[in-house]
Amino acid sequence: MLKIFLLLFITSIALINANLEDAVNGFFEQRCSKGGNPNAYSELLSASIRVKICVENNVPSSVNEAETFKAICTESYDNIYKCVEDLLEKFEPCLEPEEKYLPDFVLGSFNNTLDEQCKDSGKFFLEQRANLKHANCSVASGTITPMILETCAPKLKLIEALKKTDFVLRQDELCSDIETMKNCFLDVFEERCENDTYTQYIETFFSPVLDWCTEQRTNNKLGEN
Ligand SMILES: *[C@@H]1O[C@H](CO)[C@@H](O)[C@H](O)[C@H]1NC(C)=O
Ligand SMILES: *[C@@H]1O[C@H](CO)[C@@H](O)[C@H](O)[C@H]1NC(C)=O
Ligand SMILES: *[C@@H]1O[C@H](CO)[C@@H](O)[C@H](O)[C@H]1NC(C)=O
Repeated sequence: MLKIFLLLFITSIALINANLEDAVNGFFEQRCSKGGNPNAYSELLSASIRVKICVENNVPSSVNEAETFKAICTESYDNIYKCVEDLLEKFEPCLEPEEKYLPDFVLGSFNNTLDEQCKDSGKFFLEQRANLKHANCSVASGTITPMILETCAPKLKLIEALKKTDFVLRQDELCSDIETMKNCFLDVFEERCENDTYTQYIETFFSPVLDWCTEQRTNNKLGEN
């Protein structure tokens, strides 16, 4: 669970690590050097290492998944939020003006996701998760993440666009990629599963993030009037 959880919060970083690490490092190196701070890139690198350790340290290691999840929803929530916030601060100098929404996007999505998944002390979410075993999917465990990356990553505008040196991650493009990814996840499982109990489970990851996108579009419209 934690893998998917992180994949979605630090979406781009996770995809990137899997596929395009060198290209992306080069990209950020160049990006971070544009601002005034010559250490911006090395600070970003150390923060990206720190965030993994920080999150791991704040997720209680319990054999019982329900207990772990409950702890994330209660005592770990604020600390994990701070871990991510620390990374985002280090991104700030490496962002173009059109990308300044990104920290709010990540933190807002984080809040929305945990609000959704932690409803009713996480009972609803864990039930959905338990229902997954009725889906009867023909996929070997351990192959799901690579398979999704292989199938879905090429559909994202983000991956193609990253190859351009003047790439800018615009909010509308990011939001549309997340929608694409949700539909791709649903297709991947639909093709391989007999029962659609996975649908709601997938929704609990994507809807909170897409809700942020909708909130922003609404706010922007209100601002224009
Ligand atoms: C997320 O929730 C925390 C705690 O309720 C709040 O302090 C923070 O401002 C929220 N962040 C965003 C981006 O909405
Ligand atoms: C799951 O799929 C297998 C193989 O297709 C089938 O034999 C089995 O009856 C299915 N189980 C359920 C609970 O549908
Ligand atoms: C899917 O699984 C649920 C939960 O076990 C069950 O109630 C439902 O009948 C199943 N639907 C199909 C189409 O197999």
